[in-house]
Amino acid sequence: MTRFSKIGFILATAGSAIGLGGIWKFPYMVGESGGGAFVLIFIIAFLVFGLSVFIAEMILGRASERDCFSAFETLAPKGHKYLKYGGIMVFSGLVIFSFYVVVLGWLTHYMMLSLIGLPKTLEATQNLWGNFVSAQVGYQLLWHFVIVALCAYVLNQGVKKGIEKLNLILMPLLLIIFIGLLGYAMYQDSFWASFNFLFAPDFSKLTPKVIVDAIGQAFFALSLGVGVILTYSNSLPKKGNFIRSAIIIALLNFVFCIVAGLVIFTFIFGYGATPDSGPGLVFISLPLIFANMGLSGQIIAFLFFIALIFAGITSAISMLEPLNAWLIDRFSFSRTKANLTTISITYILGVILLFSNIAIYQENLSFFGKNLFGWFDYISASYMLPLAGVFLCIFVGWILPKSQVYAMCEGNLTGKIFKIWYFIIKFIAPVGIIVSMITLAIEGL
Ligand code: TRP
Repeated sequence: MTRFSKIGFILATAGSAIGLGGIWKFPYMVGESGGGAFVLIFIIAFLVFGLSVFIAEMILGRASERDCFSAFETLAPKGHKYLKYGGIMVFSGLVIFSFYVVVLGWLTHYMMLSLIGLPKTLEATQNLWGNFVSAQVGYQLLWHFVIVALCAYVLNQGVKKGIEKLNLILMPLLLIIFIGLLGYAMYQDSFWASFNFLFAPDFSKLTPKVIVDAIGQAFFALSLGVGVILTYSNSLPKKGNFIRSAIIIALLNFVFCIVAGLVIFTFIFGYGATPDSGPGLVFISLPLIFANMGLSGQIIAFLFFIALIFAGITSAISMLEPLNAWLIDRFSFSRTKANLTTISITYILGVILLFSNIAIYQENLSFFGKNLFGWFDYISASYMLPLAGVFLCIFVGWILPKSQVYAMCEGNLTGKIFKIWYFIIKFIAPVGIIVSMITLAIEGL
C-alpha cells in the first residue's frame, strides 16, 4: 500500500483537522454562547477528551492497517465480531461532507465578491447574504459543483499523489496567511477586547447545551468519530513516534482555532459589530468591516476567504476517505469507483441541503424548526461524533485487553502518561460525554 511520508501524514491530518470547524464554526459558536465559558469547556474537551480519543483512533488504524470496519473486526477479541458495526461511523463523513461543501461554495462566492468589491453598509451586506443563501440558486449550485469536482479530482489521485500533495502545498500557505492576519490584528486596539472575550469565562452562560456543543465542537475540530484519523493512520510511515505526531497535530489545530477567534473578534469589536450573529458572522460582520477598510481591507478579505477555502478543502477530502477506504478494502472497488459512489451521493445530498436554505423550498425541507441543512450540521457534530467517540472509548478501554492496548502504543506511550490516558479513555471521556448528553436530552424535554 502507498504510505504517507512522515511530514505528509502530519500535514494531511492537520489539514483534515484544521478547517471550517475551527475558523468558521468555532468563532460563531463562541459568539453565540457568550465567549469565555464556551472556550473553557472547549479547551478541556479538546485537550482531555479530544486528544485522548485522537490517540485511540490512531493506534487502531496503525495496529490494524485496515479500514474502519475491518479495524474493529480484526482487533476485537473472539466472540465480539459484531463490533465491526462500529464502523458505521464512516457514514457520518457523508453527512458532514454534504453540508460542508455547500459552505465552501459560499466562501468561493465571497472570495470572488471580495475581488469585485463588497458592499459598505450593514443593510446592503445583510441583504447580500440573505439574498444569496435564500434566493440565488444558480451561483450556489455553480460553486458547490466546482468544489465537489475539485475534491473528486484530488481524491481520485489517491493518498500520496492527491491528499498528501495538496496538503503539502495548501497548509504552509494557510499558515503564512494566518500569521499575517494575526500580526495585523495584534496591532489593533480591539485585540485585547477580543482576548478578554475569549478568555474571561462568564459561568452564568454555562448550560448543558453549551457543554454538549463544546464537546461536539472539540470532536468536529479534531476530525474524530468518522474514522478519518483511523484511516489516515493506517498509512502511517512504519518508523517514528506517532504519539508525538498526534500531539503536534492537536496543538497546531488548537492554536488555529484560538488564533481564528482572536483575529475575527478583533475585527468584530474594533468595528462595533456584535459577536453573536451566528453562521453569518463570517458572511455579514466581517465582509462589512473589510469593505470599510479600503484597499487593505479588500486584500485582507480576499486572503481571509482564500485561507478558509484552503483549510476547508483539505478537511473535506478527508471526510470521504474512510468510506472510500472501506469500499476499496472490503468490496474491492477501484479508487475511481469508490469515489464516484461517495461523491455522487454527497453531491445530491448537498444540492438538497442547499435548496433547504432557499426561501421558497425551505418550508418543505424543514422539520421541528430547523431546515435540513441545520439538522445535518447539528446532528452530526453534537450527536454522531460524540457517540462514535464513546464507542471508541469502550472499544479501547473495555473490550481490548489492557496489555494489547499498551503494545499497540509501541512504546510511544508508557509509564504515568499511559496510565492517565488509559484512565481518561476508560472512564472520564465516555462518562463525561454520556452524562452531558443525557442532561441535555432531559433539559430539552
Ligand atoms: N475537522 C474539520 C474542521 O474542523 C472538519 C472535519 C474533517 C471533520 N474531517 C472530519 C469533522 C471528520 C468530523 C469528522 O473543519
